[in-house]
Amino acid sequence: MASSSRLPGFFQLPPQERAQRVAELVGLNDEERALLAGAHDQDLARSDRMIENVIGTYALPLAVATNMQVNGRDVLVPMAIEEPSVVAGLSYAARMAREGGGFNAMTDEPLMIGQIQVLNVPDLHAARFRILAARQRLLDHANALDPVIVSLGGGARDVEVRVFEDGSVPMLVVHLIYDARDAMGANTINTAVEALRPLIVELTGGRVGLRILTNLADRRLARASCVVPRETLAQEGCSPEEGVTRILEAHAFAVADPYRAATHNKGVMNGIDAVAIATGNDWRALEAGVHAYAAREGGYRPVTSWERNADGALVGTIEIPLAVGTVGGATRVHPMAGLALKILGVQSARELAGIMAAVGLAQNLAALRALAMEGIQRGHMKLHARQVAISVGAEGEQVDLVAARLSEEGVVRPDRAEAILRELREA
Ligand code: MEV
Repeated sequence: MASSSRLPGFFQLPPQERAQRVAELVGLNDEERALLAGAHDQDLARSDRMIENVIGTYALPLAVATNMQVNGRDVLVPMAIEEPSVVAGLSYAARMAREGGGFNAMTDEPLMIGQIQVLNVPDLHAARFRILAARQRLLDHANALDPVIVSLGGGARDVEVRVFEDGSVPMLVVHLIYDARDAMGANTINTAVEALRPLIVELTGGRVGLRILTNLADRRLARASCVVPRETLAQEGCSPEEGVTRILEAHAFAVADPYRAATHNKGVMNGIDAVAIATGNDWRALEAGVHAYAAREGGYRPVTSWERNADGALVGTIEIPLAVGTVGGATRVHPMAGLALKILGVQSARELAGIMAAVGLAQNLAALRALAMEGIQRGHMKLHARQVAISVGAEGEQVDLVAARLSEEGVVRPDRAEAILRELREA
């Protein structure tokens, strides 16, 4: 444990020296030091430019899910994730949906919302009108800041004003609606709302508080749907009709109960976050947006819907805000992000968002099928058992041997894995 976390000048050190400092402070052994020192020089230098106080790099597995078809196009889906079953689940569900023609996706224009909080306004409603009357002036001012995005067809689109008069702090909240084109847009929008401050003060006579985008990007929705032929849901002891019914019952559980809805939506985000990380997008922003959208009507709801159509097939839909970019931020700084975008073959942020919505829907289908048809433990535990085996030091063929024994016994715990490994080594 570090004796003190006060490290003056730490941020100015090169990453290797910072790593050394930390190693000394917390008493890392040679193996642990080597782990930190293992980063490639180039990766380390790049990381050092991305965030502060870098001491190393942290790798996640990068995988590709197969079988996805979105808007008639086959896509390989790059996913960066540590959790077993997610990639296999997506590939499996994509294959089921493929039987019904794959996924259809559509997206809104890439409209983001920047917020400006205005305090100490004596006449809230009249001030709102003054801002609305000055709409064009505000838009022109915001658009003068970034001629590049305007030349690409983006820029400030609209101004809206909301009045909050009943709380302990009455305020106006100005929304600047901004077309971010192929960027996620955070920097551009934050710059724009910042720049509008003097005009807003002039128009309202108030004081400007926060200026920041909202992650509830509900003008930038992505939608995807799929038809899953009921035959794909048949399995031993379960007719196709029964298979569809079980998925509908699983969905009904999430509609009825927010405790279940949270887990249901977590499964959706398993896939979306993995693609977001692979493509260098801000997955925390997506998480915030999707969960806020799930709660937009007051209660917390599942973000997917499952129904039975007139032919008896299972039909799934998803509608979520997805503020993702293919330019700007880490998408261009992290070389793996560029590579992931190339694997996906997307030309625009909207296309990326459409695929990610389809991924979320497919991931949900995979989870519901596993939970409702076979119980999550069967498939999940096999993969989990491998991870546990590796975590206790199994190597090469030992991994499969230990994992198989753990699964057979139905006890997937590190202590048991250690005992099995010991037995194997002693045999
Ligand atoms: C696990 O990461 C995700 C699931 O729990 C999702 C769900 O329950 O729908 C399997």
